[in-house]
Amino acid sequence: MKKKIAVLTGAGVSAESGISTFRDSGGLWENYNVEDVASIEGWRRNPGLVLDFYNARRKQLASARPNAAHLAIAGLEKDHEVTVITQNVDNLHERAGSTRIIHLHGELTKVRPEDCCNEADGYSEAGVFDIGYGEIHLGDKGPDGARLRPHIVWFGEAVPKISRAIEVVEKADILLIVGTSLQVYPAAGLYRYAGIRTPIYIIDPKDVPVHDNRIVHIREVATRGMEKFVGIISGK
Ligand code: OAD
Repeated sequence: MKKKIAVLTGAGVSAESGISTFRDSGGLWENYNVEDVASIEGWRRNPGLVLDFYNARRKQLASARPNAAHLAIAGLEKDHEVTVITQNVDNLHERAGSTRIIHLHGELTKVRPEDCCNEADGYSEAGVFDIGYGEIHLGDKGPDGARLRPHIVWFGEAVPKISRAIEVVEKADILLIVGTSLQVYPAAGLYRYAGIRTPIYIIDPKDVPVHDNRIVHIREVATRGMEKFVGIISGK
């Protein structure tokens, strides 16, 4: 039977594509200070450093490929209505073929003028544009003359797509969570919006910080975990 599946993903789903996670040992936040490169204060203090950080992430993404977990998540669309809610700023879900994706923390391949997408006027992505795997540099300006910035939601900024994500989780028949440490809010609290009888599957090789009797923890890396999940929901 066709089900509504909400899939919340984090850095762990892209780990087997060679993209570093944030909080594992050897993760990005061991080598960079998160306050410097991923917060609005960091951007105001030293925008050049922030641009360099995201230029390097974009370059790394150009040579990464979707892995079997991204492909399996996309494959769920054959039999189910699937929405991917991702904290990842990479484009590996799109490249694997997923068609409904909510990027909670923005997108690496996009930039926008600093004065765009003002929430007070209602959120709109009209001024956002795609630069692929290219770079932006200090002094680069958008069509209206405003300074360009990465289209990333930084610490200290609102998460405009969270309300859409909440609606998707509320309506889901199944919630699948893959490769997130569930440390960063509001994404980490999304599972609480699942219906009281909605099963919640979590794929992660490590302990998970949430305890709830709806949760089934598949203690595997994303690729193997997705094989197991597909087996479970197809009754194999
Ligand atoms: P984290 O680095 O915090 O967590 C990654 C999770 O993936 C951990 O629970 C790991 O155990 C798990 N993991 C590692 N390898 C895996 C694999 N091969 N398969 C499956 N799981 C694996 O990353 P996120 O939870 O995504 O935000 O981090 C959330 C946010 O914090 C990010 O979006 C980013 C970061 O700061 C911003 O930069 C705004």
